[in-house]
Amino acid sequence: MTDLATLHPALEGLSADIGVVLGSGLTSVADAARDRVAIPFSEIAGFPQTPAVTGHGRELVVGELGGKRVAILTGRMHAYETGDATVMRAPIAILKRLGCKAALLTNAAGSLRTEMPAGSLMAISDHINWAGASPLLNDHSDERFVDMSAAYDADLRAAMQRAATRSGLTLHEGVYCWWPGPMFETPAEIRAARILGADAIGMSTVPEAILARRLGLRVAAVSSITNLAAGMGPPLSHAHTKEVAGAIAKDLATLVVQAIKEFDV
Ligand code: HPA
Repeated sequence: MTDLATLHPALEGLSADIGVVLGSGLTSVADAARDRVAIPFSEIAGFPQTPAVTGHGRELVVGELGGKRVAILTGRMHAYETGDATVMRAPIAILKRLGCKAALLTNAAGSLRTEMPAGSLMAISDHINWAGASPLLNDHSDERFVDMSAAYDADLRAAMQRAATRSGLTLHEGVYCWWPGPMFETPAEIRAARILGADAIGMSTVPEAILARRLGLRVAAVSSITNLAAGMGPPLSHAHTKEVAGAIAKDLATLVVQAIKEFDV
C-alpha cells in the first residue's frame, strides 16, 4: 500500500497539481470538476471529525478543472469550532502529499472598504493574523520558522487578475484580517482593523496559508465579499453570509476555473 492509500484506499494512484479550499456557500465550485473521485472527510485518516459548519461541504474531490489536476477540499474546519488553530493541518498536508505545488484558498469575508461592497471579489495580497494563533504549534522542526514576507504569490495573483479580466470580472486586491470568531466583530473592532491596514475580515484562510507555506506550496487566495463589515451596513448573520456567498459563487467559480488555467504550475 502506498503512503496515500494508508489515508484512504481511494487515494491510491491519485495526484494533483493545485489544491483548492472552498469557503462558505462555495461548495458548488467542486461540481465543475471532471473525472471526480470524491471522498468524505469522515473516511480520511487523520482528518478532524467536527461537524460541518452549515454552508460548508465535507468532501475531498480529486479531478480535473481548468485543464489541470486539482484536489478540492469542499469545505474547511475553522479554529473557532474547537479552539484548535492546527485543525487544517491534515487537510493541507494531503494536498502536498497528492503532489500539489500551489493552493488556491477561498473564503467569505466582510469588507472594510465601501468601494468594495457585497458581491465583490478580492485577491488577498497579504494578511494580518489578528487572532494571534498559530497552526504550527507542536511542529518541532526548524521549518516551523516560516518566512511570511511574500506569503501570497505575486505571479499567481497576476494570473488571477488576467483570469478576471478575461472573464469580465473586477478583482480587487487587499489585506485580509483573520478574526477568531465565531461572533462577528464590533464596529469599534472594525475601526481598529482599518487602522491596522485591513481591507477585508473573516474567520479562516490565514491558518491554511501558513500551513501551505510551511509545506512549500505557493499560495493564492480570494475572498468573496458578502457584506460591509460591522457598523458599516445592516446587522450581520451567518444566514446572510451563506445567501450572498451562494449568489457570488458563480462568479467565483468562473474565476477559480480561469485562474487555474492561467497558473504556471
Ligand atoms: N466578519 C467576519 N467574517 C465574515 C464576515 C465579517 O463581516 N463576513 C463573512 N465572514
